Amino acid sequence: MYVLGVETSCDETSVSVTKDGKEVLSNVVLSQIDIHKEYGGVVPEIASREHIKGITYVFDQAMKDAKIEYKDLDLIAVTQGPGLIGSLLIGVNAAKVISLNYHIPIIGVHHITGHIYASNIEHDFEFPLIALVVSGGHTELILMKEHFSFEKLGETQDDAVGEAYDKVARVLGLPYPGGPVVDRLAKQGVEEYQFPRPMIDSDDFNFSFSGLKSHVINLNHNMQQRNEEVHVENFCRSFQEAVTDVLVAKTIKAKDHYQVKQIVVAGGVAANSGLRQKMKERITDIPVYFPSMKYCTDNAAMISVAGYYKYQKEQKYDDFMLNGSGRLDINEGE
Ligand code: KG4
Ligand code: ZN
Repeated sequence: MYVLGVETSCDETSVSVTKDGKEVLSNVVLSQIDIHKEYGGVVPEIASREHIKGITYVFDQAMKDAKIEYKDLDLIAVTQGPGLIGSLLIGVNAAKVISLNYHIPIIGVHHITGHIYASNIEHDFEFPLIALVVSGGHTELILMKEHFSFEKLGETQDDAVGEAYDKVARVLGLPYPGGPVVDRLAKQGVEEYQFPRPMIDSDDFNFSFSGLKSHVINLNHNMQQRNEEVHVENFCRSFQEAVTDVLVAKTIKAKDHYQVKQIVVAGGVAANSGLRQKMKERITDIPVYFPSMKYCTDNAAMISVAGYYKYQKEQKYDDFMLNGSGRLDINEGE
């Protein structure tokens, strides 16, 4: 089964062809990061315009790389949400055009299910498993008892972890997106500052990062006012240690409670070196899988693969009423 994946939920225009939910024949990602960097964050209106400019090229290149023709596709999977609505609509409408023109069925995919299924490209899911989803917009623990079944155990009560990284980076004067920069600097520093570990011992599977973020930002501000030098590498390291301690502790709690066979870490922050190392050091009884870097950040291969498994489970397609939704629950139908 050849599945065309389309992803335009934020600032990456991406199209991919995968075979049987496993083999990635092409995965073209056109990133707009250099454009948004100037503004210190993604500007929705600019993102939409850039998707429009790039999407035809990205479709063409993905088909060329896969050495396949549109008529040979079996399914089109497109991110329907959540994300920036103006960006989502461009991917959804482009996917509909191909679907209509070549009579290929279409299916809408939740962006986070894509991030989770990125781990099934290079590894094989064994159930039950826990997915820790950590991205710019999400921080969630999800229990999967079988393919394409998602039970949300807990989530952030305020900021997503990637968002906290980006805000801390901004006050430190580091470029956007801050996550990878903070990560790189953290590796060069030591844990000099003691930051709080919010909700680390709470009885649930929820998270909270806004208090930690404010604590870090206030300390930076106070030190600057006192003309004390902020050691940026140590600052980043201390923040990263606090964040990853909480993420790992809550994942272990969920693992023990639900007696799962695997942990998969998903989303942009799964690229974080500190998180990767701490997860592997502290969880040794079951496998912990991280997607390789190219499948961590937004890409269409993960959407294509998730679409394949969604279809296997539900055995139904969407119709042309399929629409983009800026906000969408992981279990919400279309
Ligand atoms: O999943 P993603 O590409 O987009 C969303 O769906 O949100 O995640 C982007 C987020 C950004 O906040 C970015 O700063 C963060 O992932 N990120 C990282 C790292 N690489 C990307 N955060 C910490 N360490 C990293 N190495
Ligand atoms: Zn994402």
